[in-house]
Amino acid sequence: MSTPKRYTITAALPYTNGPIHIGHLAGVYVPADIYSRFMRITGNDVAYICGSDEHGAAIPMRAKKEGVSPQVIIDKYHKIIKQSFADFGISFDNYSRTSSAIHHETASEFFKKMYEDGKFIEEVTEQLYDDEAKQFLADRFVTGTCPKCAHEEAYGDQCEKCGSSLNATDLINPISTISGAVPTLKQTKHWFLPLDQYEDFMKEWVIEGHKKDWKPNVYGQVKSWVDEGLRPRAVTRDLDWGIPVPVDGAEGKVLYVWFDAPVGYISSTKEWAAREGKDWEPYWKDKDTKLVHFIGKDNIVFHCIIFPSMLKAEGSYILPENVPANEFLNLEGNKLSTSKNWAVWLHEYLEEFPGKQDVLRYALTANAPESKDNDFTWKDFQARNNNELVAIFGNFINRVIVLTNKYYNGIVPTPSALSDVDTQTLTELRAYPAVIASSIERYRFREASQELMNVARLGNKYLADEEPWKLIKTDEERTRTVMYVALQIASTLATLAEPFLPFTSAKLTTMLNHTPIAWNAIATEETLLAAGHQIEKAQLLFDKVEDADVQKQLDKLEATKKANEIANKTVEPQKETATFDDFTKLDLRVGTIIEAEKMPKAKKLLVLKVDTGINVRTIVSGIAEHFSPEEILGKKVTVLVNLAPRKLRGVESEGMILMTETPDGSLVFVNPDDATVTSGATIN
Ligand code: MF3
Ligand code: ZN
Repeated sequence: MSTPKRYTITAALPYTNGPIHIGHLAGVYVPADIYSRFMRITGNDVAYICGSDEHGAAIPMRAKKEGVSPQVIIDKYHKIIKQSFADFGISFDNYSRTSSAIHHETASEFFKKMYEDGKFIEEVTEQLYDDEAKQFLADRFVTGTCPKCAHEEAYGDQCEKCGSSLNATDLINPISTISGAVPTLKQTKHWFLPLDQYEDFMKEWVIEGHKKDWKPNVYGQVKSWVDEGLRPRAVTRDLDWGIPVPVDGAEGKVLYVWFDAPVGYISSTKEWAAREGKDWEPYWKDKDTKLVHFIGKDNIVFHCIIFPSMLKAEGSYILPENVPANEFLNLEGNKLSTSKNWAVWLHEYLEEFPGKQDVLRYALTANAPESKDNDFTWKDFQARNNNELVAIFGNFINRVIVLTNKYYNGIVPTPSALSDVDTQTLTELRAYPAVIASSIERYRFREASQELMNVARLGNKYLADEEPWKLIKTDEERTRTVMYVALQIASTLATLAEPFLPFTSAKLTTMLNHTPIAWNAIATEETLLAAGHQIEKAQLLFDKVEDADVQKQLDKLEATKKANEIANKTVEPQKETATFDDFTKLDLRVGTIIEAEKMPKAKKLLVLKVDTGINVRTIVSGIAEHFSPEEILGKKVTVLVNLAPRKLRGVESEGMILMTETPDGSLVFVNPDDATVTSGATIN
């Protein structure tokens, strides 16, 4: 193993405009947590840093929606988010917030230093303005068509479809998200970071310098932006929510949220260091410190181009050594969405699956969107739990602990000579720490989680082959050796599982009544769990997720879908004016369905006989997928009787029955719902 190093590990600061869902966890916080825990238990000096991102347009927008002040919003969601992270064992060394005094001070200082060193361009330009709302429009206050990929809902600072970073004035057909108005242009002064002057720096640092070690999805995006040419970017905004621009002549202006938020990593580190009595500076300024940013792919441009250029411009900071951005996680085939409530919220998951934090951590890691977007399904969640955690990991541990208690009153037995299988099993076991480490060091957490499961598989197979429960009847000496070997595997699992399954690792440690052997010692230490050591009783590690549990979650999502359909059902615009004469041309009558049968070989059609009061006539109606012939017999309906007859599949249809559609797409009759109405009555 390599010599210990100092790591500053950051996880994207979540916006406090809603709670946290599985997409956040899978993309950023779980991988960053595995990495941080791994680096800690292998003896490195780690600062794992995060906090709430409380500025930017998203906050006042949410506040408006909930009818409260922005402060109420950030306090509410900061609390919820912080609690969710704690509940899921996300082991931040510090979780701060960008509304804190230390952050305001740090971000202001950062800006001032750059300002004084002449790193900005100060310029009056025309910006989008909403005359109705009397507000400049940038970032999320304006949407329009992306000039690069033609996506129609790009924001003023970024297109979430192609990831491009934009200036609001780049948008085609911009529209204010506040009032829906088409913006006008109005002059205003801002400070720009001249990114064009950082092209050479970017080429040398990333394009040449990180060709090999950055993930292809990250490197490729950065390269394509740099190849296209970088442009100056405003780092201030005309807004009343944010950190005031700390220079004269900037009244009513605040720092752009993507200027202040990444500086939040530094502020949070300072807050932590002050609390712990440490010096924060080496974590950001010592060339030997490894700075790693964990983010989702929509944050790449900010962490790989803009923030590094700021760090470079400021002059005293190190640059990230890697930015292992993940792709997106979908949920049951659809994009996760806070506004559409298409999500598994962490606080809700915990209510429904109490104590199963590690199951979610594992399912999300085993199926992490590392190199492409991935889909979370409840079926997969169930399979990961039942087939891997329960059947392999849990089963192995349970057998070892139960048998040790049963045969030896919980005392680790003394082995005699090891067989070839024993030696080979232990040799394999000792190789795993390096294998898993290598995957984690290359940010391949899926692969790492599968290698961890392979350790449990090794144990399970060993027990299945050696069958100590049979052996005990014939060969007590050999049984002792087998149980000793199995206990070595169990002890190793407690260590290796810690980054991935921290709650499980802690339970296993309790059961083994033993401080787990250090990760780096497993390969070489002769004894992993000593003979004569007393262990504790077995506890349940995992239990089955039943089909009914999965169905409940699927039903919940189905209900969300329905609710969204109803909420989003758009009203069709009114048609052209019809004159009274136009209207009276239509002869609408009450009719009664007296016969109904399926049209042969036509899925959608029913052939009806309808008593219109005038006569009984045939009408062919496209409702067969919604109604059976039996259920509509005798029904009173509205009929357009003077529609020109037409042939459908060879049957002449003389009229049309009026229908309407419910929000979920089922058809209903527009029927005269009154028993006293009779066939032939006119409708006008
Ligand atoms: N709040 C941003 C998001 O959710 C991430 C901010 S990361 C930081 O997309 F670097 F700015 F902190
Ligand atoms: Zn785009």
